[in-house]
Amino acid sequence: MTLTQYPDQKQRLLAQPELIKTAVEEMLRYESSNQLGNRMIVEETELGGIKLPAGTLVTLCIGAANRDPAQFPNPEGFDVARTPNRHLAFGTGAHQCAGMALARLEGAIAISRFLARFPNYVLDGEPVRGGRVRFRGFLSVPCRRGA
Ligand code: HEM
Repeated sequence: MTLTQYPDQKQRLLAQPELIKTAVEEMLRYESSNQLGNRMIVEETELGGIKLPAGTLVTLCIGAANRDPAQFPNPEGFDVARTPNRHLAFGTGAHQCAGMALARLEGAIAISRFLARFPNYVLDGEPVRGGRVRFRGFLSVPCRRGA
């Protein structure tokens, strides 16, 4: 879906398929499928001027962190060659996603195979988002092969 919003980036990836690894990282950053993370404060701390006692439950927005202008130049842009790309799509720390290596591999294989098979695919209708707060994704993305 994102590649149809940025046809120049789609063309770049088609011309340079070796960019698939950085492209997948950028897709994870730009459309992070898990938008929220939960943590419990273990010792009193201060965040954004607010004191948080030990035991406080906090919900952190991964999607916002992944568009942080202090971390990412042009955070609202989509760049298949973005480097470095220190996104938090898989969380961080002790509970970082246990399946991230598999997810990265699946993403790279599925997207590069799809592009090689349907290089001219175009949207053919309005994509429908899932509408959930925590999980960002689509219920349907109607496409056709194109010319
Ligand atoms: C694009 C795909 C995926 C995304 C964006 C994703 C994202 C995440 C995130 C944000 C967390 C929480 C990390 C944290 O709290 O720091 C998580 C945890 C986890 N993920 Fe994934 N995940 C993906 C795919 C997978 C797959 C394919 C598997 C298994 C095969 C998997 C297994 C797990 C497990 C077991 C945890 C809990 C780890 C723990 O609590 O120690 N994930 N994932």
